[in-house]
Amino acid sequence: MNVFRSGVPRVLLTRYLHVNPKKPAVEVIRLAAQVLQRGGLVAFPTETVYGLGASALNASAVQKIFAAKGRPADNPLIIHVARKGEVELLARVPVIADRLMDYFWPGPLTLVLPARPVVPPEVTGGLDTVAVRQPAHPVALALLRAARLPVAAPSANRSGRPSPTTGRHVLQDLHGIVDIILEAGPCAVGVESTVLDLTGEVPAILRPGGISREQLDAVLGGVVVDAGMLGPAEAPRSPGQKYRHYAPRGVMYLVEGEPPELAGRLGELVRQARRQGRKVALLISEETAGFYAGREPEPSIMEILGSRQDLSQVASSLYAALLACDSRGADVIYAETFPEEGLGLAIMNRLLKAAGYRIQRSEAGGQRPE
Ligand code: TXA
Ligand code: MG
Repeated sequence: MNVFRSGVPRVLLTRYLHVNPKKPAVEVIRLAAQVLQRGGLVAFPTETVYGLGASALNASAVQKIFAAKGRPADNPLIIHVARKGEVELLARVPVIADRLMDYFWPGPLTLVLPARPVVPPEVTGGLDTVAVRQPAHPVALALLRAARLPVAAPSANRSGRPSPTTGRHVLQDLHGIVDIILEAGPCAVGVESTVLDLTGEVPAILRPGGISREQLDAVLGGVVVDAGMLGPAEAPRSPGQKYRHYAPRGVMYLVEGEPPELAGRLGELVRQARRQGRKVALLISEETAGFYAGREPEPSIMEILGSRQDLSQVASSLYAALLACDSRGADVIYAETFPEEGLGLAIMNRLLKAAGYRIQRSEAGGQRPE
């Protein structure tokens, strides 16, 4: 089946192939690797989100990624490698980068390094730096090893949409546009990698993600967080941070507060929305859901993200919850906020962007104007 989208190059057939997440079948991996070698597009699972991969050193293959996603050309891509040793071919590797790779790779940490000329400008968005990471998912690693290529891969969603955390999410966004989708079930981390820039005077987090600021601090003894990260940025150093992102189709608001009183305020907001005939969704923690239980009226959609005591649950269910709001037609979405510690920094960065920075504060009358 083909999905019509004007301006987007289409392939005749998207192959949607299930693979065992721990032990992917050799034939399927070989097939996907051949597609990459021939300049095609393969969506594959990583431990963070699904990636949309193409051969990183093949400029025309990389251009297909931008066309498939509808991504602005100045937003650079991350190159995925099978092993640390490959990075030397793509970038200059300072001692500190080497150390961080030993600590955190394979894993959700992307390093921005000075690029070597072999990296095409399509990948770097014309910058003189390049972002690299070794993903931790067995399917991603098997594919990278079989392809024997560095693979450029953004998240496998149409630009601006929530990132996919299952192959089915990719199918919904990119059916008929990519050659192969490898389905290996849900991603463990659920938010993207942390992007750490090592080309400035001090290491700087350009995008918070699966490796926390605290974990980096423990190794580096000092890391700064790019100012563009928790507010609408003036001039973020990571080009991707300036675009509207992770957004569901309904209007979304973050609602501050602690579970007991938050449940009461959410109840009032649900009542108002229902009265206006709007389909309302709540994205809340287990704790808040506990206090909401039995309250009338019920929201049309309630997505329980996980416990406030274990933010890894919240991270791993976040994008699926945003996408569920879309598939179930939510007009308005109210989401709980989380402490900006550990994974909470990445969770809040994504929630704020998804909500277009609309927050309803907990103090009486403290609502931020839209
Ligand atoms: O977890 C992840 O990182 C996923 C999986 C598939 O690996 N990939 C991902 O890619 O999130 P993408 O393209 O959606 O986000 C890459 C981010 C963007 O914000 C981009 O601007 C930034 O990394 N980036 C890439 N290269 C850069 C560079 N040379 N300098 C600064 N930022 C860069
Ligand atoms: Mg993305």
